[in-house]
Amino acid sequence: MTSECAIWDLRTDENFFDSKKINHSNLSHIVVKSSNPMDLLREWYHDVKKYADPNCTMPNLMNLATCNSDGEVHARNLYMRQIVNDNIHIMTDRRGTKCKDLIENTNVACTFFWCFTKNNIKYARQVRIQGIAKELNTEETQKMYSNEPLYCKIRSHLCHQGLPVEWTEAKAKHDKMYEEVLAGKNPLPMPDHVVGFEIVPHKFDYYQADGEIIGDRVVFEMKWGKWENYHVYS
Ligand SMILES: Cc1cc2nc3c(=O)[nH]c(=O)nc-3n(C[C@H](O)[C@H](O)[C@H](O)COP(=O)(O)O)c2cc1C
Repeated sequence: MTSECAIWDLRTDENFFDSKKINHSNLSHIVVKSSNPMDLLREWYHDVKKYADPNCTMPNLMNLATCNSDGEVHARNLYMRQIVNDNIHIMTDRRGTKCKDLIENTNVACTFFWCFTKNNIKYARQVRIQGIAKELNTEETQKMYSNEPLYCKIRSHLCHQGLPVEWTEAKAKHDKMYEEVLAGKNPLPMPDHVVGFEIVPHKFDYYQADGEIIGDRVVFEMKWGKWENYHVYS
């Protein structure tokens, strides 16, 4: 790799496909077993848990895109915490950019990318979701917060998401807080700025490529209170 090279053709990278070696073709097929799009998400989630390398895959990590009232789009990865009544629950800091965006515009887009090998075939799957984000009530957020690991609870007390930080100062504060927790002097109650959202989906777009072949897509759309699905070209 050289930074001075005008064209860096990534297709020659050994991790990318080598276009010269691939001389076969086929069309992938997604089998839809249920009219509820969340059932396919659950099925694919179980596949990735079963077949992907747990050391380098985070099945519950999703990309979330938000858009503020000026039309500026922000995307970031975060954890899908739970699925409740087919809605996706997330947790964040009320003072951060995404929360400000969500107050101005509740429309969101999420993407999961899942990759694994099954029966010697490499699967690449993408789930795109469009939906509306709704703030959860304190009780629901509190329930999620109580199940957070210790470092996440400490983070919610220590960190003001997005503000500049002086590392040495933050580390000292962290260590003091951690000591207090270990000594039973700080129960780390949920701070007011911790907020949960549920994403209520109205459109799903599932994409699958198994092996180096043409992908298949299935779109689910909510129409008059009912889910409809159809295949689309990849
Ligand atoms: C693996 C991973 C998991 C993350 N999980 C969360 C999360 O659950 N909630 C969250 O607010 N940020 C999470 N983040 C951090 C976000 O990507 C982002 O940096 C942060 O939320 C600030 O985003 P914002 O400025 O757009 O609000 C995670 C980042 C990574 C890499």
